Amino acid sequence: MPRSIIEPFRIKTVEPIRMTNEAERRRFLTEAWFNPFLLRAEDVLIDLLTDSGTGAMSAEQWASIMRGDESYAGSTSFFRFEETVREIFGFQYIFPTHQGRAAERILFESLCKPGDIVPNNTHFDTTRANIENTGAVAVDLPCVEGRNPGIPFPFKGNMNVEALQALIAQVGAAKIPLVMLTITNNSGGGQPVSMTNIKNVRAVCQEHGIPLYIDACRFAENCWFIREREAGYASTSPYDIARELFSYADGCTMSAKKDGLVNIGGFLAGNDAVLAKAESRLLILTEGFTTYGGLAGRDLDAIATGLREVLREDYLNYRIASTAYLGRRLTESGVPIVQPPGGHAIYIDAGAMLDHLPATMLPGQALVAELYLEGGIRAVEIGTVMFGTTDEGTQLEKTAPMELVRLAIPRRVYTQSHIDYVSEVVADVYARRHAIAGMKIVWQSPPLRHFTAHFERCESVASGSR
Ligand code: F0G
Repeated sequence: MPRSIIEPFRIKTVEPIRMTNEAERRRFLTEAWFNPFLLRAEDVLIDLLTDSGTGAMSAEQWASIMRGDESYAGSTSFFRFEETVREIFGFQYIFPTHQGRAAERILFESLCKPGDIVPNNTHFDTTRANIENTGAVAVDLPCVEGRNPGIPFPFKGNMNVEALQALIAQVGAAKIPLVMLTITNNSGGGQPVSMTNIKNVRAVCQEHGIPLYIDACRFAENCWFIREREAGYASTSPYDIARELFSYADGCTMSAKKDGLVNIGGFLAGNDAVLAKAESRLLILTEGFTTYGGLAGRDLDAIATGLREVLREDYLNYRIASTAYLGRRLTESGVPIVQPPGGHAIYIDAGAMLDHLPATMLPGQALVAELYLEGGIRAVEIGTVMFGTTDEGTQLEKTAPMELVRLAIPRRVYTQSHIDYVSEVVADVYARRHAIAGMKIVWQSPPLRHFTAHFERCESVASGSR
């Protein structure tokens, strides 16, 4: 009989979490304007807002923290970090940054100008915002399967290569300073990109002389999916898969808060010497000298250790299996989720679950509120609140292509009983789904309005149909 895949660690330090009652949660959520970003973390029982910077570090990482060398320039921690990144990712020029979006800003400010176009399988919100901040346009080109939440497909994170070719033919390669691939595709459901797709995108980029960059936040999870699902990789180590994958790219941005297994940090890497000079100027301007980039030496050491731990087979097997476990439990309760489950999160199809609410009544935000009220679970809407816009004149909402709610699973933090509890709470909300009222935005501050927006409930359960 196959045995349970267990957490490949034992617990050395614990952090108490606090149960609240429903009346308290109702008060907290009302005070937070129904926006979970505005809740106090101590009022949350299970925090699935993000897998970013919320993981538990290992004893080895804490030991690395003590080894940290805080020299302003040339610290030994930097060289340990650089050596590890160069070995796994294979790039020549490596700049630490305080987190992923700093790497994005520096890359796009160095490469993009107004009127340029940057294609991606799907841009994450900070990526899009940083591109648009330079006056360039961020274009999403997901594969067709990636737009359909309920239909399983092994590599729903793939880029639509024909659409990329068509875009280049339409606007000309000179207008496209880089192409990006986000692995795994966070905004598209945490879905992986296949090695074949990466090679195909690479071939198109090479033909037109366009650099290819990887948004590498969850690269190790993507490598595990390649090993499990793509022909020819079943006996290749995640480390070797990573080395091959990055060999097809010209550079990457990385938020080490995900697959770096640390609470803060990131980097920008590439092979272009001229570009690296421009990037180092911007880095020094706002982040710090090139050997610390806004991080402490100890952070660099913890990243170096985390990048090796994240590629261990027992870790990745447990990580992907535990996310799939939550997906299976929810599916058994009838809850519609993006299929198959992604690497770092389960995405509930709130549009399908609350099918009495039109997208303009923000079904994702309504579901997020209910998950907190029902069981103290904090999740995040990935739909019209995050990606839609309000027309300033008509006040009409331009809605997003999908209305999802993400349950992001912090790394090495929650045990199977926490996950069982989550699935029970979601199932209870599902049972009373048709009584859930919609939401409306009463205050917002674009761009990235979802972090701070204020919401109120709509008076009636639903007005109009989808
Ligand atoms: N790219 C992707 C695919 C991401 O998921 C994130 C962050 C970033 C870039 C930016 O990195 O936060 O270190 O500046 N995602 C977090 C999330 C915030 O919750 O998914 P950062």
